Amino acid sequence: MKKLTFALAMLLLAVGATASTDNNEELAKRIAPVGQIYVAGQQAAAAEQASGPRSGEQVYNGACIACHGTGALNAPKPGADDWKPRIAQGFDVMLKHSIEGFNNMPAMGTCATCSEDEIAAAIRFMTDGV
Ligand code: HEC
Repeated sequence: MKKLTFALAMLLLAVGATASTDNNEELAKRIAPVGQIYVAGQQAAAAEQASGPRSGEQVYNGACIACHGTGALNAPKPGADDWKPRIAQGFDVMLKHSIEGFNNMPAMGTCATCSEDEIAAAIRFMTDGV
């Protein structure tokens, strides 16, 4: 019995020793939850980084490029002459068509999180220099 108790004690000691060599940071990383949730009203880490409206270029690269970058479905490419007749109808018409959708041009250019100002900035980016 004494031997068994001794063996148990040694075992516990060994376990304790390994545990104590771990630093707490390492342990915290290992037991950290896989994902994080944010309760309503709490600020998400990603949201904290976003500041102010996105630039026209950012909106273009995030959404409009899918069609306007390649000319898919005859979407006018940035800086292309195809924009001339569209510009001629006035910026407000282009903005309205972008917000509401127009033929194969989807509403908000598929950017569901965009404000109307951000859409306008993306139009300015694409028509720059035309
Ligand atoms: C799914 C493809 C697609 C995406 C994504 C897309 N567009 Fe378009 N867009 C089109 C097509 C196709 C047209 C041409 C529609 C036509 O004239 O029949 C068009 C036309 C336009 C026009 C001209 C409208 C007019 O009055 O002549 C503007 C402005 C425009 N897009 C802005 C945007 C902006 C800004 C984004 C991104 C936020 C965007 N588009 C994303 C396909 C797309």
